Amino acid sequence: MSRPAHRVTIFGAGYIGLVAGACFAELGHHVTIRDIQPERVRILNSGEVPIYEPGLGDMLARNKERLSYTLDGDEAVRDADVAYICVDTPPTASGDADLSRVWAVIDTLGTAGHLKAVVVKSTVPVGTGERIRRALDEAGLGHVGYASNPEFTAEGRAITDFMRPDRIVIGATDTETADLVAALHDGIDGPVDVMDIASAEMVKMAANALLATKISFTNEIAALCEATGADITHVTRAIGQDHRLGPHFMNAGLGYGGSCFPKDSRALRALASNTGYPFQLLTAVIEVNELQPRRAVQRLKTQLGTLKGRTVTLLGMTFKPGTDDMREAPSTIIAARLLAEGAHVRCWDPMARPGPGAPWDTAERHPGISEALDHADAAVVVTEWPELRDTDWSAHVTRMQTPVIFDGRNVLDLTTMQALGYTYLSVGRASGPEHTA
Ligand code: UGA
Repeated sequence: MSRPAHRVTIFGAGYIGLVAGACFAELGHHVTIRDIQPERVRILNSGEVPIYEPGLGDMLARNKERLSYTLDGDEAVRDADVAYICVDTPPTASGDADLSRVWAVIDTLGTAGHLKAVVVKSTVPVGTGERIRRALDEAGLGHVGYASNPEFTAEGRAITDFMRPDRIVIGATDTETADLVAALHDGIDGPVDVMDIASAEMVKMAANALLATKISFTNEIAALCEATGADITHVTRAIGQDHRLGPHFMNAGLGYGGSCFPKDSRALRALASNTGYPFQLLTAVIEVNELQPRRAVQRLKTQLGTLKGRTVTLLGMTFKPGTDDMREAPSTIIAARLLAEGAHVRCWDPMARPGPGAPWDTAERHPGISEALDHADAAVVVTEWPELRDTDWSAHVTRMQTPVIFDGRNVLDLTTMQALGYTYLSVGRASGPEHTA
């Protein structure tokens, strides 16, 4: 049975907008993607993809008849039924979300002749939808519906998450708009949960904050494991078997990074503070996370005696594997701290695209793991790329000046690494200098 196709305009050709656009086209809709960066639009029009996301290139290519890309906002919305706002909402100096790009999109909607709904997918503070509703009314777009449809996809598996979601959350004040947004998702296997706009906005912020809390909680238990001789991998495995807690987001490590958790947790804390409510638990979650990369450098310093003049290799730079994204990557803090301590920093990563400036201008990047480890005094596993599990660690042990590995993601086998002759440190396992006696 064929589904009715809609004309959807996506504002923002970033990770969220491109994935949503590709998936809506896959579902049979006609999609126009508008971005303000000429280079991005040029790349898309030439059939390339400006970001790395598994499966995205193939999906865009497969649906190219139903996809177009433009810089022109007026042209983008002229024939649209639905305008999806997927622009970024970076933090301002106060920690609030910068909504200027969202407002810029609202300003372009005046030329839309057939628009039935404006939908926000960007992560925005609770209360934004109400403000947008008022702005639409004032712009003479009172007949256009408004909905919040937060995004729960994770980078590296965004296509799968979009097409097989745990839930599709729709916040709307009228059933017509909610039904239209639900209809856009027809063909997707996942429950639709309709609620008011403020609640939908809160679901997104609270879900990310709870996931971040789970990670910071695990990292604190890991620190206690280091101090007491327990092993975090055993502890979380058994905790995760409790169906009320579940096994996910309990990997101890160097802390969470990326474009979402750090920004969204700070934005929720700022939102709470602005209402006069101090969100103390979230403040602790953020502090624990900020400590993780610094603790790793400190533990390495204790192990090596000094970091001055030592060569330290960072294995992995992106905030997680399967992406080229360097936003808020713990590797950046670790590299900057190592440089500040006088170390030479080398790095390896199969995908990372660090921007210009410190610390990556100073760090020496190598295309292969072996060269990156040559004569190094220590290496830190920062990102759990599969290549690091598969590489021949028995060959690297003699390549390094001193075979010290800090496994910041607990991906290597403790016993094997120690048997190979490494001084092997990890997070929350009794393998640090504290427990080698
Ligand atoms: C996250 C959420 O998982 C998505 O549901 C959400 O839609 C998205 O943010 C967003 O708000 O747009 P993402 O930032 O792509 O997705 O990455 P995650 O896979 O969630 O990882 C975030 C960070 O947490 C990474 O640095 C990862 O290494 C770290 N992490 C994750 C841990 O340190 N331990 C864990 O157990 C899990």
